Amino acid sequence: MLVKTIKEVRNIIKQNKLREKTVGLVPTMGYLHEGHLSLIRKAKQDNDFVIVSIFVNPIQFGPNEDFEDYPRDLDRDYKLAIEAGANLIFNPSVEEMYPQEIKTFVEVRDLTENLCGLSRPGHFRGVTTVVAKLFNIVQPDKAYFGQKDAQQVSVISKMVQDLNFDLEIVPCPIVRENDGLAMSSRNVYLKATERKSALLLSQSLFQAQELINKGERNAENIKDFITATLQKDEKCDIDYVKIVDFDTLKDIEILKGNVLVALAVKIGKTRLIDNIIMEVK
Ligand code: PAJ
Repeated sequence: MLVKTIKEVRNIIKQNKLREKTVGLVPTMGYLHEGHLSLIRKAKQDNDFVIVSIFVNPIQFGPNEDFEDYPRDLDRDYKLAIEAGANLIFNPSVEEMYPQEIKTFVEVRDLTENLCGLSRPGHFRGVTTVVAKLFNIVQPDKAYFGQKDAQQVSVISKMVQDLNFDLEIVPCPIVRENDGLAMSSRNVYLKATERKSALLLSQSLFQAQELINKGERNAENIKDFITATLQKDEKCDIDYVKIVDFDTLKDIEILKGNVLVALAVKIGKTRLIDNIIMEVK
């Protein structure tokens, strides 16, 4: 079922809640791929009723980012989402979500001040605001997010904790192409040669993982290694290579505990991110 209005979603949710059905929400910006579909399948396993929202959220894009160009294909998305187990696709217009200029934002401090938050000012404020709106509209029991956007999972989990949203955030593993490239709606922007260069993101992370498994604990050494690997290809324009504590998202010098190794690289006009999360003894 395709639903365009907040009112209609609310009515349907109310009926489901009256029947004591559990509701899972998978928020997306559409142009669905296996990464999104893995979230939908997981939501289907855990819940009676699954809602997939498809909304390219203007307030999380910077002025020089790709809001206008962001790939969209609702017909294809609808079929894929239903096949994966969605019961309802919520696809509001920008006017439906933002009928007037909004003056209320949800902002998570601190956790948004490193990694992508540094290079995309205002981005996470846009994400947390729209996700809070979606949580209020759908009132799900569980909501599903990919570790591909590790900082996003962390920021949204903090928002849920701080604002007492009555739901559980379920983090889901990164889904990759066979050659290792993390799936992303933005991968369609890549020309064939750029697609080859993009492989270096996951390759450098996997090699770093091996170094860590072999005992390397010095963050600077690992970052230097990743940077050198990426710089072998002149198409890779590094935004950041960082190693942070996954709980605080603060840079660390020595790897210990729950560690996030994350990078963002521009290839041509396409900005790609990838990461690995490791428990280091
Ligand atoms: P979008 O980029 O469409 O991603 C929707 C969800 O799919 C996010 O939770 C993201 O982490 C997850 N995802 C994307 N690629 C993945 C992959 N390769 N493996 C596993 N999960 C993957 O993230 C957003 O949209 C937006 O910021 C949103 C949360 C919808 C708010 O507008």
